[in-house]
Amino acid sequence: MTQQTPRPRRWVGPAVVLGSTLLLAACSAENNRQNSLKPEGPAAEKIDNLFIPVFWISVVVGVLVLTAVLVFALRFRYRAGRNENPKQIHGSTPLEIGWTIVPALILAVVAVPTVITIFDLAKEPSGNVLNVTAVGKQWWWEFKYPRQDVVTANELVIPAGRPVKVSLTACDESLPDKCNVIHSFWVPQLAGKRDVVPGRTNFTTIEADKPGTYLGQCAEYCGLSHANMRMRVIAMEPSEFDQWVDEQQAGPAVPFQVGTGADQRPAGPTQELIATKYQCTNCHSLSDSTVSSYGPNLTHLASRTTFASGYYELTPERLTEWVYNAPGLIPMESAHCRDEGEPAIGRCVGMPSFSRDTPPGQPTMTRQEAEQISDYLLQLT
Ligand code: CUA
Repeated sequence: MTQQTPRPRRWVGPAVVLGSTLLLAACSAENNRQNSLKPEGPAAEKIDNLFIPVFWISVVVGVLVLTAVLVFALRFRYRAGRNENPKQIHGSTPLEIGWTIVPALILAVVAVPTVITIFDLAKEPSGNVLNVTAVGKQWWWEFKYPRQDVVTANELVIPAGRPVKVSLTACDESLPDKCNVIHSFWVPQLAGKRDVVPGRTNFTTIEADKPGTYLGQCAEYCGLSHANMRMRVIAMEPSEFDQWVDEQQAGPAVPFQVGTGADQRPAGPTQELIATKYQCTNCHSLSDSTVSSYGPNLTHLASRTTFASGYYELTPERLTEWVYNAPGLIPMESAHCRDEGEPAIGRCVGMPSFSRDTPPGQPTMTRQEAEQISDYLLQLT
């Protein structure tokens, strides 16, 4: 008695192929602006120039192998009534040598441009180089311009057509343990990925051929909000860039403190909320754009187009919601981490909520206060 094994439904195969094709096609959407196949600067172009020939070599090899597999599978498939054993042989020296040498040759050919490109990309940039330091934090990027003495966050402003050496570090005095976890700096249209490793300084060179906004993101898992750790590079005409630097070097548009020395105090009731009641100034600088702080430097917050590691557009509504309850907009490890009088530093990561799970005895923010703080921050152009 023969037992019939159930045949898989005929439509399953084609449906899987069609479905995955559509799914993969979505990755190449024109407007995702993180397409390394559309390079906008010399480093990304070098990578693209390497990728394209290697891709076509792989296509040729893939087509040849798959065709051979199909041909042999069909040609020598089982046929009812024909039960011949294949001719028994023991190895074939020409074949063995052939399929060892051919792949080795292909790899050797591919290795030449690959090694050249790797060394080329690892070279220190020369010429009129702008130096920037990017500090990877949980979960945002701090950008420091040492020559210009400017610190900003999440939006790296650069002059177009000029090489920018980005030193990459995960360590910084403003971090509780001096070093953060591993991150990876990646702006696909400008350069390849480069790891940001605690304890050492890497660098990458980016350059944008023309002014524009280039999106990037952290490309190494770094904790809860890794997927939300975005950034953008904003390339400007050189004269616009110089103007931007001047504006960043200036003091805050609305002075935060009045008085000097021991008489120094917040300038108004909103500043009182920020400095005393909710102590935002523990983690953020609002009046000095030259200092690095645990949270983003906010002295010129309103000059940026986004906030929250580039995740949200900077609008009054979003910013108010953020001030009120940041972990409600982006997952962060702040719930309960400030409980029981334990020191928050080192245990709390990211921006706390001021309206939910606040530590016992601490004030809970009202929406009106959040609006007031957000209004003030939006004046900091
Ligand atoms: Cu930072 Cu992933």
